[in-house]
Amino acid sequence: MPAKWTPESWRSHPIRQVPAYRDAAALAAVEQKLGSFPPLVFAGEARALKSRLADVANGRGFLLQGGDCAESFAEFSANNIRDTFKVFLQMTVVLMYAGGLPVVKVGRMAGQFAKPRSADTETIDGVTLPAYRGDIINGIEFEPGAREPDPQRMMQVYSQSASTLNLLRAFARGGYADLHRVHGWTQGFVANSPAAERFSDIANRITEALTFMEACGIRSDQTPQVSEAEFFTSHEALLLPYEQALTRVDSTSGDWYDCSAHMIWIGERTRQPDGAHIEFCRGVRNPIGMKVGPTLEGDELIRLIDLLNPENEPGRLTLISRMGHDKIGERLPALVRRVAREGRKVVWSCDPMHGNTVKSNTGYKTRPFDRILAEVRGFMAVHRAEGTHAGGVHFEMTGQNVTECIGGAQEVTESALADRYHTHCDPRLNATQSLELAFLIAEELKAARTATEGRGDAAAAD
Ligand code: PEP
Ligand code: CO
Repeated sequence: MPAKWTPESWRSHPIRQVPAYRDAAALAAVEQKLGSFPPLVFAGEARALKSRLADVANGRGFLLQGGDCAESFAEFSANNIRDTFKVFLQMTVVLMYAGGLPVVKVGRMAGQFAKPRSADTETIDGVTLPAYRGDIINGIEFEPGAREPDPQRMMQVYSQSASTLNLLRAFARGGYADLHRVHGWTQGFVANSPAAERFSDIANRITEALTFMEACGIRSDQTPQVSEAEFFTSHEALLLPYEQALTRVDSTSGDWYDCSAHMIWIGERTRQPDGAHIEFCRGVRNPIGMKVGPTLEGDELIRLIDLLNPENEPGRLTLISRMGHDKIGERLPALVRRVAREGRKVVWSCDPMHGNTVKSNTGYKTRPFDRILAEVRGFMAVHRAEGTHAGGVHFEMTGQNVTECIGGAQEVTESALADRYHTHCDPRLNATQSLELAFLIAEELKAARTATEGRGDAAAAD
């Protein structure tokens, strides 16, 4: 039995990836101030997400999680938020239409500011400085002042997250996400792509279906499933002083929730069973994600699952596999089989980004579209073979017309990476690539659905 959990019990566990702040008093003052601020999300919303994810765990839905690798102070604007939201809506429609499953939408937005790093320092031209760890911790500029961790940055993250959430809620509930507007979600620069053409086709069919429904007397303006979107937020719970400050008791249930986002996840570098991040996350009742990389073995995975979800509650835990396109076929099957055999209820999701990062000849970190797709296909194939549900995908993506991942129908080349490479951390899919990928995944979902139905028919015939 683990010892008693409190919001600060993580402090007595070994911790990785969290900086030592030079000025302890300044850090404590920020923590205290944030602790007195209103929560960013409500426990009831986190519970709603958990119940949607429980459906996914039971094979009745699909999780689409995505957004920036790292949000930044510099790229904060209404247009950026709107454009990412638009791509989400488009991808959702594609996945729902072809996959025939409800899609649970979770943004890496409104709080995704802290980055774990493989190296603690960065060296350029013989000068070594602390690594950039995300705008919530230090600045990206390569100079000593910027790289010093500054607790005040947490205040700016709180404020930016609150504004982002406010706009997302407005878009989701205020008419923008109404299915009658489906044609308006395609952005100008996407419009000439093959994916946009296919999207327009689906949009026409949806519009026809809505007209038909209305002719039948179903008032879509009174049907929130048509006129609104349900959109949730998430980020990596890395900077625990910030997460603790926003952790509150829910007055309805008496349980603790981390009210910085609806869902939080634990990264590949901070999932040690006795570590601070697992300790913090096990005690809050939000839906939790955990990255599952190629070195994780079955015994340790079961141990982690039982620490994070001792009651085996469906929807509580999402395992985000991030193996790499060349390792997934070898590493994932045994883990999926083990989890199923031991009866643990989880959502399996696929992050095809973090195992497929390479350096281009021109020195940029990039990800080949083909490898991203290959990992998703590998993920689906494993679940098909094991008879388990491929529950979702987790992308780094943006609504902007960036050139960060190579390939896709518009063929971003290595030499084009320099054109519009804006990410603060890892390379993201652009809007066109994201939509294209949604179509390719939808085809896989459709095939999986047909296979399941086929199995059902065969069983019925026996
Ligand atoms: C991330 O999701 O941005 C990330 C750092 O992933 P991982 O922990 O899987 O490396
Ligand atoms: Co990343």
